[in-house]
Amino acid sequence: MNHMWNDSSTPDTTVGTVYDAQRVRADFPIFSRTVRGKPLVYLDSAASTQKPQAMIDATSRFYAEDYSNVHRGVHFLSQRATDLYEDARSEVRRFLNAERDEEIVFVRGATEAINLVAQTYGRSQLGAGDEVIISAIEHHANIVPWQMICQEMGATLRVIPINDHGELQLDAFEDMLNERTKIVAVVHVSNALGTVNPVREIIATAHRHGVPVLVDGAQSVQHLPVDVRDLDCDFFTFSGHKIYGPTGIGVLYGKKALLDAMPPYQGGGDMILSVSFERTVYNETPFKFEAGTPDIAGVIGLAAALRYFRSFDIAAIAAHEQLLLSSATARLQEIDALRVIGTAKEKASVISFTLCAVHPHDIGTILDQHGIAVRAGHHCAQPVMRHFGIPATARASFGMYNTMEDVDALVHGIHSVLEVFT
Ligand code: ALA
Repeated sequence: MNHMWNDSSTPDTTVGTVYDAQRVRADFPIFSRTVRGKPLVYLDSAASTQKPQAMIDATSRFYAEDYSNVHRGVHFLSQRATDLYEDARSEVRRFLNAERDEEIVFVRGATEAINLVAQTYGRSQLGAGDEVIISAIEHHANIVPWQMICQEMGATLRVIPINDHGELQLDAFEDMLNERTKIVAVVHVSNALGTVNPVREIIATAHRHGVPVLVDGAQSVQHLPVDVRDLDCDFFTFSGHKIYGPTGIGVLYGKKALLDAMPPYQGGGDMILSVSFERTVYNETPFKFEAGTPDIAGVIGLAAALRYFRSFDIAAIAAHEQLLLSSATARLQEIDALRVIGTAKEKASVISFTLCAVHPHDIGTILDQHGIAVRAGHHCAQPVMRHFGIPATARASFGMYNTMEDVDALVHGIHSVLEVFT
């Protein structure tokens, strides 16, 4: 399957081949429905993406034709389900360009992946006086798990500061690294601001000090090409539902030597080699981290979503989304009452804003009357809101199916909001 079309009706030719978002939309059945009597303008992909038919079909086909538990049976269907499940692991490995399938652990989402690393790597490595470094633009999912383990172990959480564009201050970061630093955990793309962090540089700097790095890729894998070996990150996490896959499934990538050295996360079936009341021998990586019956259909759906996504040139998707982002930013900035929050030089997909005294929830509610879905709130990033001195923003975020017509609808919708409030 190759989804690059030479359709002269679309303007995005930055990578030499035309990317046709209109045709992409046809692969997503939700766009055939209306919302409040209007065509759906879905600008909330940072919260969760819509689903392609290929993913929906793969999931229902599994339940209808191939369903059984994995890793447990000698019977045909169990072997078939196990093959599909392990093929999905290989699909994720190819997607991230990891070296080995064993480096891919299936979890519930990026949040669980970070908790897993904090509770296993963190618990085994941190002691009193040790330090964990995160950044000031983390989602709560990359703050609270580290706070919890630091509190328990007597360690200190340190925070890389940001400037008023929402960019990390890397000089300060280098100064924070010392012999007590046990791990650096940073977001790749900020869900609240859209900032793309220079993770390659952060990883290289941390490695010069012998410190491993976890990259939270929940908002990056669907917008930028990611290659974990090229980045040389030690851990990488992402969620299936933000990359056109099912909810409740996600991935932890870890370098095999690190995963092998980490204790298990949860106990139960499948994560053991043998159990007696005296002693349990744990299974090997990655199975020792996958206790209990996993979300088999979720894993198979995730693989289908990744196959669909990879049938495009990811650089072409990125270029298309950049065009939407720069056009929306320029047009929104023409509105006097509007303030864009997060003006980093490198951004992806997200535009957060406030509108004079209008509460973001009112912005969201009025846009909804026009069939436009945006998110309003603190976006699970309260420290970011505090930095900018605001309680919340309205946030429009783009996916592979958005078009310039969606940008037009957003701009018109914001003028309608202003009409209500002036
Ligand atoms: N983390 C998701 C968001 O940014 C839910 O909306």
